[in-house]
Amino acid sequence: MSGQGKILVTGGAGYIGSHACVELLQAGYEIVVVDNLSNSKTEALVRAQQLAGKPLTFYQVDIRDKAALTAIFAQEIITTVIHFAGLKSVGESCAQPALYYHNNVYGTLVLTEVMAAAGVKQLVFSSSATVYGESVSPQYAEDFPLGPINPYGRSKAMVEDILRDLAAADAINAEPMPWKIALLRYFNPIGAHASGLIGEDPNGIPNNLMPYVAQVAIGKLPQLSVFGDDYPTPDGTGIRDYIHVVDLVKGHIQAITALAGESFAKGGCRPYNLGTGQGYSVLDIIHAFERVTGCPVKYKVVGRRAGDLAECFANPDRALQELGWRAEKNLDDMVADTWNWQSKNPQGYTA
Ligand code: NAD
Ligand code: WQD
Repeated sequence: MSGQGKILVTGGAGYIGSHACVELLQAGYEIVVVDNLSNSKTEALVRAQQLAGKPLTFYQVDIRDKAALTAIFAQEIITTVIHFAGLKSVGESCAQPALYYHNNVYGTLVLTEVMAAAGVKQLVFSSSATVYGESVSPQYAEDFPLGPINPYGRSKAMVEDILRDLAAADAINAEPMPWKIALLRYFNPIGAHASGLIGEDPNGIPNNLMPYVAQVAIGKLPQLSVFGDDYPTPDGTGIRDYIHVVDLVKGHIQAITALAGESFAKGGCRPYNLGTGQGYSVLDIIHAFERVTGCPVKYKVVGRRAGDLAECFANPDRALQELGWRAEKNLDDMVADTWNWQSKNPQGYTA
């Protein structure tokens, strides 16, 4: 892939971004990472390069810094951007909504302005299943109504709107070099690289189920609170579509290929669910963790968490048909790789 320009990875030092760096480098892409390190450490990038056996270029820059971003586009030959950079905590977004809109929405506006000025109009965006609204079916397809219920989700939905509008404007204006945009709606990414060298390193007490379970198993946290066992699901606990982070990032590589292909020849902006299509309950996760690792996971059932759905999983058909992508790893792989990372790095990245 060298000689064809580079992929710019915003947020490349983060959990998903660092795994994307490994897969992109291994697939032969040259990459430039832009990250402000607000929720990550450079050690993740050191290890990503070690795993791939290839170097990348890193700029410690905030995507809202237009001058710095413009300078990077002048310095590097970039063909496509994968945009992971963003804040992602639902609770924090309720407490500090302006921070989320500034970082996620304004940050993306700056990025797209700089991209357009540089004539780079291929973009893969990290969206989320959280953009979906209430639905009659727990299996979400891309054409289901949107209706996020917290500022984080709304920041993702707003960015989706902006990106759709950019692509639509190019269609109206018959722009010769139109925007080509894939909105990738992630379900619940978990797991880590099979080497155990890179993984999820949450700040403080984790909000999400899998890192919480892993920290209980390793003894950092006393017990898991299971948020409700009175949902209308087979065991009463919430059901989600957990997807291995390495499968997830492979979906991005397929998206890059699709953007360069025939189906996006006239431009466009299209959403794709990235999930397995299979739901697991909280108790399924606990039991899989205990079985695969041999470690007991102490838990107690508490009340429901505000804003949680009973059941949410992907219809992943469009990603298969149009991107040629499907998840390959199963729940045992996700648990084994989470545990491998957690037990080899009990304090996360220390450097
Ligand atoms: P992460 O926090 O580990 O990674 C995000 C990275 O972006 C971090 O390295 C952070 O330092 C960087 N960043 C944040 N704001 C920035 C800015 N203004 N300028 C430059 N860098 C900035 O999160 P992640 O789990 O890897 O998520 C990546 C993306 O995927 C995010 O946009 C997130 O909203 C989205 N997403 C994540 C999940 C999930 O469950 N992890 C689910 C759906 C969508
Ligand atoms: C999964 C299940 C909880 C923690 C969140 C964001 C979403 C997306 C992914 C970025 C639910 C239960 C959890 C705990 C529990 N992020 N649970 N005890 O809520 O599906 O999605 O992360 O886009 O936007 O909302 O994931 O891992 O928090 O919860 O019982 O300590 O585990 O109730 O059923 P969620 P999660």
